[in-house]
Formats: sequence, structure tokens, C-alpha cells
Amino acid sequence: MKPRVFITRRIPENGIELLRKHFEVEIWEDEGEIPREVLLQKVRDVDALVTMLSERIDREVFDSAPKLRIVANYAVGYDNIDVDEATKLGIYVTNTPDVLTDATADFAWTLLLATARRLVEADNFVRSGEWKRRGIAWHPLMFLGRDVYGKTIGIVGFGRIGQAVARRAKGFGIRILYNARSRKPEAEKELGAEFKSLDELLKESDFVVLAVPLTKETYHMVNEERLKLMKPTAILVNIARGKVVDTEALVKALKEGWIAGAGLDVFEKEPYYHEELFKLKNVVLAPHIGSATFGAREGMAELVARNLIAFKNGEVPPTLVNGEVVNVRKPGFEWGWGR
Ligand code: NAP
Ligand code: GLV
Ligand code: GLV
Repeated sequence: MKPRVFITRRIPENGIELLRKHFEVEIWEDEGEIPREVLLQKVRDVDALVTMLSERIDREVFDSAPKLRIVANYAVGYDNIDVDEATKLGIYVTNTPDVLTDATADFAWTLLLATARRLVEADNFVRSGEWKRRGIAWHPLMFLGRDVYGKTIGIVGFGRIGQAVARRAKGFGIRILYNARSRKPEAEKELGAEFKSLDELLKESDFVVLAVPLTKETYHMVNEERLKLMKPTAILVNIARGKVVDTEALVKALKEGWIAGAGLDVFEKEPYYHEELFKLKNVVLAPHIGSATFGAREGMAELVARNLIAFKNGEVPPTLVNGEVVNVRKPGFEWGWGR
């Protein structure tokens, strides 16, 4: 008998095909979020779960799933999962690092450039017919934006994605500042990046890119006080998690001109709606699509499958999040049946 895996959303076919060779696969086929009650029902007799970042995977889910041994998150961030509870129960948790790093770093730059050069505003100007109505083909003062070349970027969170953002910055002749919990001597050498305290980084940067995970420490890390440290000409780009920024403070900062603009891919509550923010022209908004390329999403699907298959074969999954779990339970579905 094959172990059973439940996938809470349709993922690219390559991952599903791989999984079908080793698992009984069930997929939640609705485009929308799986309702919580249905999720709690569906997990009753599954051995493995593939989850999305929009689902809260906590003690209640684990208690509803007595056979559950592994949760493979279809994301690199895993703030949606109560990892401590999982570890206590001997449940393995995996994520999808690396395969989405470049796509997400590209998107950070997409937002940065689009905000700096007012691309969305300009696109609306053309497509609404306003350009034609005005009848001015070209004007020296039309749609002026911010220079990017030769400026300073401050990257908060200097892991896989943060460093990939920095690598791209080199082509713009940009000075690179970074903040992380620990210094990165090799990256400093390779990229010429300078370590700064968060406050120093915010004071000195023309562009601030957030690339930290959401944790107790990073929750509302960018708050009113910190936004006030930024330059009035600076642009904030958030591709991390919405809760890293205090949204109300950000809206105030944008309205009152403490900063010049923001490019946001993530929000405190998703899907997001904020009438006041949407009225502002100096923001570019995206619906959490940082990793949304064909290549990255296929890479994520494959990695999810490789994690589950390794676990089934009694091996430690390649991108295990809770390393200590191996002391609680060995990998594999046979061992230690029943909690
Ligand atoms: P990573 O390699 O683990 O890097 C995270 C970095 O954040 C590390 O440099 C870490 O510092 C730093 N950090 C953690 N806590 C910090 C704190 N309190 N203060 C300052 N720095 C802190 O992770 P990654 O693969 O780059 O991904 C980062 C995050 O991006 C994910 O967790 C996810 O939430 C988000 N993400 C979003 C999208 C999207 O679609 N928008 C796509 C992918 C990822 P140390 O190196 O010193 O530990
Ligand atoms: C996306 O936000 C991820 O964490 O993979
Ligand atoms: C702009 O199109 C220029 O030629 O300078």
C-alpha cells in the first residue's frame, strides 16, 4: 500500500507525476482556498501533506491527522506552520528554498524599477487614452522618476534572496548595504556589500528591500519610527511578508511624504484591499507573485516531491526545516506508527 498525500491546491504537473509513483495522491481541485473544516476532514487519514503559505498548519490540524508524518510547504517561507508543535509530535516540515531565489530576486527588482520609474502610473496614462487626450507627445518634465544607477540599496535579510538581489545590484553600479542577524564576510567580499545596523541602513538607503522571514523578531520591524528614519526620496520594496511592515504606518508615510514610494508584493492580510493605499500613485502593488514564474513553480513542485519521496525512503528530506525532529522520530512512514 502506498502512503497517502493530500495536496491543498493544484501544483505543476511535474511534481504530481513524481508523487504518483510513490503515493496515493489527492488534490484539492478548487482554485480557491480549501475551507478550514474541509482541510481538517481531509487530513484524517493522510500520511503526508503538501500545503500552501496561505494555510495555517497548527496543532488543530496535527490533532486531526493522527497518521501525519510530514508537511511539505509549497513555499520557502514557513511562518504559516507551527514548526515547534510539529517537532514535538515528530512531524517533519520541509520548504522550497533555492529554486525560487532568482525569480523572487528578479521580482524585487521589477518592483523597485517599476516604482522608481512610475511604470504603472505611466501605463495607465497611455492605456486610458489620457496621453492622446492631452496631445503632448513628449515633455521634459513628464513622469519624472528616481535615478537608480549610482544610488544606494539597503537589503534587510541577506540570505538566499537578499544576496541574489545584491548580485543584480552590481549592474546598476549601486552601493550595497545589508542587515542580517549575522555578518556575511564572503558576500561582503564578493559583492562589496557593507553591514549596517537596521537604523543606519534605513537612514542611508535610497532603496530598501525587505527579504527577511516573518518571525517574532521581524513582525512590524518596519514601523512608524523606522519609516521616519528613511529619506523622503527613498523607496521601500517588500517581497518578504506583509507583517514585517506596519501597514498603517506605511500608508501614513506614503501620504505624508516621509518616503517617496513603495513596491509591495506582500500584505498583512491576503487577499488585500485598502482603499486609502490604492488611491496613492506612488505605490506599485502585486498579489504575492514573487516566485510566480513557470521555472520557479516547477522547481518548487519537484522539490516538494523530492522531499516526500526521500522521507518515504527513510532518508532525511533534502530541505528539512526542523532538523531536531530526527531525534524525535526517524524518517519513513512505517516506523513508530501512531502517536
Ligand atoms: P534565508 O536564506 O533564510 O534568508 C533570510 C535572511 O533574513 C537571513 O540573512 C537572516 O539572517 C535574515 N534575518 C532573519 N531574521 C532577521 C532579523 N530579525 N533581523 C535581520 N535579519 C534577519 O531566506 P530566503 O530564501 O532568502 O527567503 C526569505 C523570505 O522571503 C522567506 O522567508 C519568505 O517569507 C520570503 N519570500 C517571499 C516570496 C514572495 O513571493 N514574495 C518568495 C520567496 C520568499 P541570518 O543570515 O543572519 O540568519
Ligand atoms: C513565497 O512567499 C514563499 O515563501 O515561497
Ligand atoms: C529619448 O527618447 C531620447 O532620445 O533622448
